[in-house]
Amino acid sequence: MVKPIGVGLLGLGTVGAGVVRVLDLNRDRIEREVGAPVSIRRVLVRDLAKPRAADVPPDLLTDDYDLLLEDREIEVIVEAIGGVEPAATYLSRAIAAGKQIVTANKELLARQGRELIRAAEEKGVQFRFEAAVAGGIPIISALKESLAANRVSRVMGIVNGTTNYILTAMTEEGRDFTTALAEAQALGYAEADPAADVDGWDAAYKLAILASIAFGSRIAVEDVLVEGIRHLEPADITYAGELGFRIKLLAIGQDEGGRVAVRVHPTMIPARHPLAAVNGVYNAVFVRGNAVGDLMFYGRGAGDLPTASSILGDVVNVARHLASCGPHRICSCFYDYPVIPAGDLKTRYYLRMEVVDQPGVLAKIAGAFGAHGVSLASVIQKGHGSDPVTLVFVTHTVKEADLRAALREIEGFTVVHAVRNVIRVEEG
Ligand SMILES: NC(=O)c1ccc[n+]([C@@H]2O[C@H](COP(=O)([O-])OP(=O)(O)OC[C@H]3O[C@@H](n4cnc5c(N)ncnc54)[C@H](OP(=O)(O)O)[C@@H]3O)[C@@H](O)[C@H]2O)c1
Repeated sequence: MVKPIGVGLLGLGTVGAGVVRVLDLNRDRIEREVGAPVSIRRVLVRDLAKPRAADVPPDLLTDDYDLLLEDREIEVIVEAIGGVEPAATYLSRAIAAGKQIVTANKELLARQGRELIRAAEEKGVQFRFEAAVAGGIPIISALKESLAANRVSRVMGIVNGTTNYILTAMTEEGRDFTTALAEAQALGYAEADPAADVDGWDAAYKLAILASIAFGSRIAVEDVLVEGIRHLEPADITYAGELGFRIKLLAIGQDEGGRVAVRVHPTMIPARHPLAAVNGVYNAVFVRGNAVGDLMFYGRGAGDLPTASSILGDVVNVARHLASCGPHRICSCFYDYPVIPAGDLKTRYYLRMEVVDQPGVLAKIAGAFGAHGVSLASVIQKGHGSDPVTLVFVTHTVKEADLRAALREIEGFTVVHAVRNVIRVEEG
């Protein structure tokens, strides 16, 4: 008689219910992979009376976490409640009790991953988190396992479906930001409070995790330069199109010879770049390895079933490992690279400004750019004969601090009404 793998599930919302449904749907395949029955023995929720999207026997539901910890048959804790607390305390206690951990919680990992992983290694339990980055896309195990023989120089991805949906609607349907956000909320793609998505923080948590694994050096979320998409206007989308670009919220991690650059911001990428074709709520992660070359992973970055696919893949791996041997190393941050300060980051920029229509204005602005070492690749002038006229510039690669210094000077010119937008450009 093979001993079943007992699972304690924390949370029965979108993800928790997805785990129950995928386990029911694919039980035969999952149990063959594990080599034993997989049984959810308890489900922790806040509200015992709430209707549920998954078919769970009512006697499995509890709001008492101690019942899961005390159950010796629960070997694996699957955490799908989200947020830092009480998730951090729950997982610390589960590790101390010798239980194996699977979590989907990017915020917890980006903020307290180091401590939790260290505790898991010391206790000799496994700690897996495939679902925490890009939902159903198996990017964590690809980086940690299949690509382990590479030096990765770049990870670059669309890792937030909400902002990608909004930017797609702005690009394809000509919506403004507010309308596109309201539509995303009506369809359930954006939260009532959309700040974590549209201000870039969700993507920053994911980038901190991705970059730590890709470069083998711990990156804190505080190290990431973060800029959201609220300030994008339809005019920027239009001019980007005219210049042959698409605007995407990209999470970019780059190994620059022993220093690491990590940033999340709206980015103009060439319309021919594979990431430019990733639309709607889809996610994609582009990876450059020195042996494998360029790779792109594409798929659903959220949703109940895709996320559960990653979680149950982790459960299968944990169970296989339990059957085969003892503890192993989880943390792959072997190095300690410095993170490049925001002012030293180098990229190209698109700039849109409104100026007075009179001779010499363009030369004055170009002179200010030149004085700060900002070289211009192209200039477009729109609306000659009207006031104000729009000037659009695309720079060559410049240092962020130099560009900001030039803009401070330009914003002081009386002939400049306003610098309407500044968007970074990536060539691919
Ligand atoms: N949604 C996605 O597509 C997705 C994709 C990838 C990763 N994730 C991650 O997965 C996690 C869960 O997301 P979700 O969308 O499933 O959230 P959700 O729908 O809000 O569900 C959260 C669940 O956790 C329970 N819960 C919350 N706080 C609790 C507490 N203090 N004690 C006990 N139970 C508690 C809630 O109980 P009640 O139902 O009783 O309120 C609910 O069942 C998050 O870390 C999220 O970042 C989500």
